[in-house]
Amino acid sequence: MLDTYPSLTANWSYPTAVRFGPGRIKELAETVGVAGMAKPLFVTDPGLVELPIVANALAVLAKAGTAHAVFSKVDGNPTLKNLDDGLAAYRAGGHDGVISFGGGSAMDVGKLVAFMCGQTRSVFDFEDREDWWTRANAGGIAPIVAVPTTAGTGSEVGRAAVVTDPSDHTKKIIFHPNMLPRVVIADPELTVGLPAKITAWTGMDALSHSLEAWCSPFFHPLGEGIALEAMRLIKEWLPVAVEDGGNVNARAFMLAASSMGAVAFQKGLGAMHAMSHPCSALRGTHHGRTNAVVMPYVLVRNMPAIAERLAALARYIDLPGQSAASVVEWVLELRRRIGIPNTLKEIGVDVDVIPEAAPMAEHDPSNGGNPVPLMADDYAALYRNAISGAL
Ligand SMILES: NC(=O)c1ccc[n+]([C@@H]2O[C@H](COP(=O)([O-])OP(=O)(O)OC[C@H]3O[C@@H](n4cnc5c(N)ncnc54)[C@H](O)[C@@H]3O)[C@@H](O)[C@H]2O)c1
Ligand SMILES: [Fe+2]
Repeated sequence: MLDTYPSLTANWSYPTAVRFGPGRIKELAETVGVAGMAKPLFVTDPGLVELPIVANALAVLAKAGTAHAVFSKVDGNPTLKNLDDGLAAYRAGGHDGVISFGGGSAMDVGKLVAFMCGQTRSVFDFEDREDWWTRANAGGIAPIVAVPTTAGTGSEVGRAAVVTDPSDHTKKIIFHPNMLPRVVIADPELTVGLPAKITAWTGMDALSHSLEAWCSPFFHPLGEGIALEAMRLIKEWLPVAVEDGGNVNARAFMLAASSMGAVAFQKGLGAMHAMSHPCSALRGTHHGRTNAVVMPYVLVRNMPAIAERLAALARYIDLPGQSAASVVEWVLELRRRIGIPNTLKEIGVDVDVIPEAAPMAEHDPSNGGNPVPLMADDYAALYRNAISGAL
């Protein structure tokens, strides 16, 4: 057993300042001060705002006398309207920074509010393409403190946020280096109440980040090292976190693995994300759950280019057989164990989506990181397989 440490509390300064450990939400008010804010907007979602973890976090701010307001009009796949409403709340309240508290949805809306409060152009002018981020007024970006309450997206250590463009119904990735939160509080106790299903779905998002990063063809050894260790942690701890949600150790290792996945995917993503984004935009499916469903189909499609990499992964995470095929077997077994359906059809995506989704997948920025070049026709075939269950 490698995962034995005297304590699971630590301060990291990579890729930003991270205060990691159970109970550290009690440092929220101090952290807000360190990040340079006096009157933060606390951005969360409508489910979380009813839970004691939000009440406790707000009580920490109130006790320290930190003026703040709460914004929680955030959808599961955030929309432009969510961002516009958040910006209006930010401006009306005279805020000087954002606390992004929640899963990827709330964290991303919070990050976008902090980014957009100082811009004059449309948010979609800052999509993650070429050097579009250089169009931004970097000085106008407000500070962000991020507090993840799911273990999956890793958005707390990422420089991007995802929002749906109503003009073409696509999920767009908005990027700016200064969207990286100044300080992160990664408190695994906040994820203890996460229902088993969402634990499974978000954990598989973390796996898809690491697996796609590991397989993508670009030169980025830092990302590769982090991806491998994240996948070992996920193999050991995701089933435990799903089956025994109160296990704080399992929650802590999954929270770390989630951040690691996001750091690793600076290397690149691939067809799992390229297929998943259109499903969420067109059919409202959960991001991590969709990645989990398409994962084995994409691995098999990419196999000619990734067999050696998968075999190396199998050796590192100690899979029986230690071969590329054993990685596919492991993914299938993990999905079964944590209750992920086998087909897209079971999560509400049927063949009628293919004519629209396949070209969207080709044009998704994640497609550029896939180890095998894929065009719309290839994606149509992949969607057909993932809908019918033909592996
Ligand atoms: N910025 C990035 O790099 C990045 C990466 C991957 C995904 N994303 C985005 O993140 C979003 C998905 O985020 P997610 O998977 O974390 O889900 P989510 O934020 O949509 O949350 C899912 C549900 O879990 C609930 N929830 C969250 N924390 C909880 C807790 N501790 N206890 C009980 N319930 C809790 C929420 O209220 C919500 O109903 C997608 O929109 C996706 O596009 C962003
Ligand atoms: Fe993702």
